[in-house]
Amino acid sequence: MLSIVFSSVILALLLTFSHKFLTGDGDFTLLSKGKVKRESFQDKVVWITGASRGIGEVLAKQLATLGAKLIISARNEPELERVKNQISALNLGKHGPEGVEILPLDLSSGEDAIREVVEKAISLFGGAGVDYVIHNAAFERPKSTALDVPEASLNATLDVNVVGPISLTRLLLPHMLKKGKGHFVVMSSAAGKAPAPGQAVYSASKFALNGYFHSLRSEFYQKGIMVTVVCPGPIEASNAPATSTASKEKRVSSERCAELVLVAVSHGLKEAWISYQPVLAVMYLVQYMPSVGFWLMDKIGAKRVETAAKKGNTYSMNLLFGRKKE
Ligand SMILES: NC(=O)c1ccc[n+]([C@@H]2O[C@H](COP(=O)([O-])OP(=O)(O)OC[C@H]3O[C@@H](n4cnc5c(N)ncnc54)[C@H](OP(=O)(O)O)[C@@H]3O)[C@@H](O)[C@H]2O)c1
Repeated sequence: MLSIVFSSVILALLLTFSHKFLTGDGDFTLLSKGKVKRESFQDKVVWITGASRGIGEVLAKQLATLGAKLIISARNEPELERVKNQISALNLGKHGPEGVEILPLDLSSGEDAIREVVEKAISLFGGAGVDYVIHNAAFERPKSTALDVPEASLNATLDVNVVGPISLTRLLLPHMLKKGKGHFVVMSSAAGKAPAPGQAVYSASKFALNGYFHSLRSEFYQKGIMVTVVCPGPIEASNAPATSTASKEKRVSSERCAELVLVAVSHGLKEAWISYQPVLAVMYLVQYMPSVGFWLMDKIGAKRVETAAKKGNTYSMNLLFGRKKE
């Protein structure tokens, strides 16, 4: 009798575990944390790069609702104005229009220009400094083979995704150390954890970010500096045209992605993965069983690039079971 009860409990646990794994939109630790801790962001200064559209815009709106004071950056000032006006028109948050500062920034403009922007950022809100930076901006990410990436695109990807955020961090960190606290949030990617055939340079930029920021945290954690590296898989951009490749793929919404980012940050997670299957499974495989993960990616890599060129679903299981390459 006891063994029947025991087996039933194990079976129920296995079924729950499998169901969560198959239907969840994040890694197990992230999903176990529940809701965003509002008090983590209330009255805090949060600087978001790439806030003129996409996930950055949604993060800005959710953070305003949570009572944060925002510095929003990107190159396109009119779009930043639009985001600020929407936050104020929708009455999001308690600070009103005074709670959102627009700070134009070009991450590829070099360290001197970024230094000026950092000085401005720490002088805003009465010189309150910056509590959180969300490194969210990224260069466009077209899909092509590693051979076909033009030099201009290679340089721009590394400048905007890696060199710019590292410069900003180096310049801001001394101010955070003076205050004894600060939190860097890094929007990396599943492509920063697993191979991304068709996006080799983008993947390289995200692996670089992961390495830099996990190392930085290890150096300064005891001095109050936190880092959360977020690795999303495919996310549905609210501005993606219906005819784009994205419309054929199962993607987590930008709203849910932003919510999970804030759950991860407010619970102090050091890394979080956000995605549906099969990308999440690939991330687990590459992390915990790399030979199997790399074998799988080598099997589908060439087909994925071909599929991307035809604007097909680059996250489909058919990549594994479909027609062999001629
Ligand atoms: N969407 C996804 O499926 C997905 C998946 C995994 C990871 N991610 C990561 O999540 C983050 C946000 O993705 P997203 O899809 O929301 O991006 P997005 O819609 O392409 O927006 C990119 C943002 O970066 C800004 N930006 C581009 N170049 C810049 C520069 N030189 N200097 C300063 N800002 C610049 C853009 O504004 P301006 O053009 O006005 O400068 C824009 O606000 C990125 O880091 C991306 O790699 C996204």
